[in-house]
Order: sequence, then structure tokens, then C-alpha cells
Amino acid sequence: MTTIGIHDLAVATASHVVELDDLAARADIDPAKFRIGLGQEQMSTPGLDEDIVTMGAAAAQRIIDRHGVDGIRTLFFATETGIDQSRAAGVHVHELLGLPRSVRVVELKQACYSATAALQAAAGLIARNPDERVLVIASDVARYELDTAAEPTQGAGAVAFLVSAEPALAVLETAAGVYTAEVDDFWRPNDSVTAVVDGKLSVSAYLDGVAGAWDDYRSRGGVDIDQIDWFCHHQPFTKMAVKAHRALGQHVGVELDPELVTATTGYNRRIGNSYTASLYIALAALLDGENDLTGSRIGLFSYGSGSVSEFFTLVVQPGYREATRGAETEAILAARTAVDVPTYRELHDATHRDSTVDVEIAAASPGPFHFAGLAGRARRYTRD
Ligand code: HMG
Repeated sequence: MTTIGIHDLAVATASHVVELDDLAARADIDPAKFRIGLGQEQMSTPGLDEDIVTMGAAAAQRIIDRHGVDGIRTLFFATETGIDQSRAAGVHVHELLGLPRSVRVVELKQACYSATAALQAAAGLIARNPDERVLVIASDVARYELDTAAEPTQGAGAVAFLVSAEPALAVLETAAGVYTAEVDDFWRPNDSVTAVVDGKLSVSAYLDGVAGAWDDYRSRGGVDIDQIDWFCHHQPFTKMAVKAHRALGQHVGVELDPELVTATTGYNRRIGNSYTASLYIALAALLDGENDLTGSRIGLFSYGSGSVSEFFTLVVQPGYREATRGAETEAILAARTAVDVPTYRELHDATHRDSTVDVEIAAASPGPFHFAGLAGRARRYTRD
């Protein structure tokens, strides 16, 4: 039987980084609250010439460099930081990467969840035609109001992953559990560039999703908890994954080892929340880590506020290490430019753009892709 799953996975982020110790100092907060209470050390923040398109294209370029475009018929772009009410951000990526005209492009939205919907939809397309491959991009900028409790849980990042038959990294298993419940925990109205959030409610809604998705997973033939070797939970801040793991253990009545989660948090501690990308950045951290995962089953919990949750599993393939990108991701994180809090606050405000005013933006980030400004209300992009 043909297996289907993730063949390659690349991470990208924005080119600036803020130390959360600096943010804590400015707000006169004990830095341990962010480091230990939230499990966060840094957050990536975009420059004026960066957005979901430039980060997503940077991640996808590395996938294309390694595998070419043969067989790619679909590009799914998952985001909740949409740059347009109509056109998919992926169409800009399609152009920047020079993808064939015969690739369909669509954007998927449901808060942080939609990359998982993209993965499942991709698996369906490949089950119909195993010669096809699907490029999934998940890219977001997590932005809240300044001087709020949510501020230290901002961040910016993207992943691109290639879904194919006979994948080199991990096979997607069929059983999946879904839990959808309308809740006003977090959303971003059409006229707002920052999210509206009820923090405490969002944490409890997320934990309801853990239990609900798990129960549905089990009722649909999913394996028992002791058959799962590692757990990746969505990471709006990495302590949330620990809370999720504890809650899952309590729900099923077993004590789960937190080590099975801490192995997934290394990148997100330094990137911050990247919404749709966050779960898959956690997966990258686990795959790139020191543990030999060959043959292991990973349980993944995807949560998107509002809310949709899904629990599903991947099985890591023999030889997967040859397909990982740990050194590359470390280099990307290390190359970010540190900015102080006043500079970050200026960037936070300056990236809110009035789309009725034409503007040219100089390429300032290392690239290779840049947001170049607005002309006739249309967004312009360049590549180096
Ligand atoms: P807060 O007001 O900072 O919460 O808001 P807190 O006062 O309860 O403190 C947080 C933790 O720090 C607590 O630990 C404190 O004890 C601890 P906990 O009890 O939770 O284990 N703490 C300390 N630890 C060590 N030393 C100290 C210290 N002081 C306190 N000195 C909140 C936190 C997460 C609510 C806020 O940051 C927020 O609103 N963030 C945005 C919303 C969010 O991330 N929600 C997560 C679930 S929803 C989700 O994941 C979806 C999302 O990604 C969006 C989407 O789906 O699109 C957000």
C-alpha cells in the first residue's frame, strides 16, 4: 500500500529578534515569568519589507531547491494573517518562486489550525493520484496590542512542507480526531491588525480541544496513548504544550512524561507564536533533535482558536535524518538581528499600513524576498 506523508519540512522566520528579558525589564516584570511561566526566551519580529509572503517564500524556496517542482499541482497557503480579503497570499509566492502555471493555489483560514487542514487535504489529493505532490506553506505574524499580557506571546515564522507518497520524513496515519466548538477566545476582526483575545478563556478552550479531539481520535480507531512515543502540541508559548500534555494525561488517566514534549520546544522558545506554522516548527525541532526517532509514532495536537482542534499521528521513517534541516534552521535563527525594545515598538506600529497610500519600501532584510510596497493599493514583492 502506498504511504503518504511529509517528505521535507523547512522553517523560516523574520529577520529581527527581541529578547523577552528586555521586554520584561521595560514592563518591570520578573523575567522568570516569561522564561519559566510562559516558556519563552525571544520573539521574532518582521522588518518593514517582511510579511507572510516573504517568510513563506523563503521556506518554500528551500523545498524547491532540493526537490524541484515536478509533480507539484497544488500549493496550499495556510495563514490567519491574510494580506488581502480576496487573493491568496500563495499567488505571490507562486510568482516569486516561478512555479508552473499548472499549479493551483488557495489560502486556508481557521486561526492556527489551517495548516493541518492543508495536510489532510493534500493527503486526499495524493491518495487519488500518488504521482502528485502538494506544497503546503504555513506563515503568520502573531501581533497583539503593545503593553498587554499577550505581548510576550507574539512572534513570526513560516514553514513549507512537501506532502508526497513514500515520504522521507514521516508517514501520516489515517486515524484523526476532530473537535469544533464556537468560542470567543481569540479572533481578528477585518478592520484590525492585532488580535482580540480573552487569554484565560483561550487557554481553557485549547484544553477542551485536547480532550475533545483525543476522544474523537480514539472513537475512530486511533491507537491507545501508550502506543505514542512523542507529542507535539500547538505552541502559542511553549509552556502551553506542557499544560496540554498534562491535561491529556489527566483526561486518559495516566501520568505522561514532560520530556516527550520538551524535545519539541527548542525553536518555538526563540521564535514565539507563529500561529499556523507553530505546530510544524515544533515537529521540526523534534526531528532535528538528538533523539533517534526512527520508527517512532508522534502524536500531534493542532488548535485554532474559535475553535477547531485535531489530533493525528505521524510515523517517522528509516533514514529520516538525511532529510532534516537542523543546521539550516539553527543558522537562520542565529542570523537574526537583535533589536532593542524601542526599535521593536516602532516596527510594531510601522508595519500597520494604510493601503490607500502608495509607498515604496526599500529592501532592508537579508531576503531573498522583500515586500516592496503598495502601488494602486496592490502589494508589490521583489526577489534578490
Ligand atoms: P498572563 O496574564 O501573563 O497569565 O497571561 P498569568 O499571570 O497566569 O501568568 C502566566 C504564567 O506565568 C502562570 O503560570 C504564572 O504562574 C507564571 P501557570 O499558572 O499558567 O502555569 N508566572 C511565573 N512563573 C515564574 N516566575 C514568575 C512568574 N510570574 C507568573 N515570577 C496569557 C498569559 C497566555 C493568557 C497571555 O499571554 C495571552 O493572552 N496570550 C495570548 C493568547 C494565547 O496565547 N493563548 C493560548 C491558548 S489559545 C491558542 O493557542 C491559539 C492561538 O495560537 C491563536 C490561534 O489559534 O489563532 C493564540
